[in-house]
Order: sequence, then structure tokens, then C-alpha cells
Amino acid sequence: MHICRSIAEIRNVMWDLATDGSVGLVTTMGALHAGHMALVAAAADDHDAVVATIFVNPTQFGDAKDLENYPRTEETDLAMLRDAGVAAVFIPDAAEIYPDGEETIVETTHLANILHGEVRPGHYRGVATVVTKLFNIIQADAAYFGEKDYQQLAVIRRMVRDLHMPITIHGVPTVREADGLAMSSRNVRLIADERYDARVLHLSLTVAEALIKEGKTVEQAAESIRGVISSKRSCKLVGLDIVDAETFAPVTGVPTKTIGIMISVQFLQVMLIDQKEIAI
Ligand code: PAJ
Repeated sequence: MHICRSIAEIRNVMWDLATDGSVGLVTTMGALHAGHMALVAAAADDHDAVVATIFVNPTQFGDAKDLENYPRTEETDLAMLRDAGVAAVFIPDAAEIYPDGEETIVETTHLANILHGEVRPGHYRGVATVVTKLFNIIQADAAYFGEKDYQQLAVIRRMVRDLHMPITIHGVPTVREADGLAMSSRNVRLIADERYDARVLHLSLTVAEALIKEGKTVEQAAESIRGVISSKRSCKLVGLDIVDAETFAPVTGVPTKTIGIMISVQFLQVMLIDQKEIAI
């Protein structure tokens, strides 16, 4: 497995990989878990070679402390990627990605600033900008993103469509712990009872799905989510959005098209998100 820290190195490697066949890309911020590895497996199924990136992107963190505390486990990450048969890893530092004096940003102006984007101003602009840079550096045929980060996936799809980027985007279903908690690099920052309480994120979405399937309104589903999450003292619901899965516009009443439900829950040290798409 090639480990490349500079753009020049990964471009060299990509030259050979692209000559030999198709390439699938998985972008990550490291601290890898089974969720990331599901993306790698999906990319490996479809392509001759898989390339992964590990970069804790400073511009998508609103809070300097969150950036500082983000888990970094480079050695284990590289071992996991090597075991999964990944051909090359691009693991740059911030100066390589953000050269001195740089001033270009990429933003999906509406989608980045609604819903979870309102809770985290600037977050999706940071994501769109870094993903554009990574797409330009790697030039893979396709890239794989988790459905867990539902709005992120929508932002990337919109950006690729709007800017005519020559890459195919695939969404991969959320990988969960045994009790339903979506795997996340941030889960290690749950303290004491929070880990146990955190199972209500997925539970609340499952209950809401059952209500919608029974013909209840999105307002009733939202009410039930609020009830389930507020039953745990360590969980503070900071975002709850029920949207049209295609347009991301809010939905009211009994839904007639596929909807997405997104929740953000604040714990003492960390905010976790979860999501469910419900086909009508
Ligand atoms: P990160 O949180 O490391 O996630 C990398 C990719 O793994 C994302 O596409 C994310 O949706 C996916 N992923 C994370 N947990 C998952 C789970 N439990 N099941 C399935 N997929 C999961 O998302 C980012 O990094 C960054 O914003 C990035 C796109 C790399 C840009 O900096």
C-alpha cells in the first residue's frame, strides 16, 4: 500500500493506478471503524483499485476544541486500510491542502446553510471545499460516502452535479453498533452513562418510522422523537428535521414521497447525528 503525504506523490501513484483500471475513492478524517470500512468494501466491489484519504479537515470544524480533540489513530488506520487491500492512502498535512494565501471556497449556498448547517455554520462549506480539492488531486472514477451524514451526501451530490465534476457518487448505508448507535469516530467521547443513553438516537428514529408507516403525520413523528430523546437526561436534541429526500424542503402532514429524518443530539463533550430515510 502506497502511503503518500504530498500531492506530488499521490499524483504519481494515481498515474499508474488509473492506467491499470478504475479507481474508487473513500475520503475520511481517520479514526477508522467498521462504517468507514463498509465504504472501502463497496468501493472495492466496483473498482480495480481503492484509494483512501485521511485528513482531519480544519475548515469544517467550527470549534477549535472539537478539532483538537478529534481522535487521531494513524497507525491503526493504516493497518486497517492495508488489511482491506487499499492500493494507496493520501494523508497530507494542512499546509499541503491549504497553501499559503489560498482564498478559494466551494459552497452549495442554500443546502449548506439549512438544517444541520444552521447548527454548524460554515461546516458544509469546509466539507465541499476539501472534498473538491481531494477530488481534483486524486481524480478517481467514483467516490463513496456514508448515508449517516445524510446532508453531507446531499451537499456532495449537488456540488458534483452543479460543477459538472467527472465523478460518480455512491451512498452507503449506515453501519451500527449492536444497540443501534451509528458508528462514529466521535462515539469514544461519550462519557459514563452517555454511551448507554445514546441508543435513543436510533430508537427514536425507528419509532418515528413505525408511526409514519401507520399513516401518522410528520408532526406526530417529530413529537415522538422529542419524547424518546428527552427521556434521557444526558441527551439534548439540538436539531430535528423531516424533509423531502430529494429537495431537502421541509415536509408537513402525511408524507406522500420519500422523506429523510435527521437528528442532532448534544452530549456533554460531543454532538452526534443520525438519520433515517423512509420510502413512502
Ligand atoms: P468521516 O467522519 O471520517 O467519515 C468519512 C466517511 O465515512 C463519510 O462518508 C461518512 O459518512 C462515512 N461514515 C462514517 N460513519 C459511518 C457509518 N457508521 N456507516 C457508514 N458510513 C459512515 O465525513 C467525513 O469524515 C468528512 O466530512 C469528509 C467527507 C472526509 C471531508 O472532510
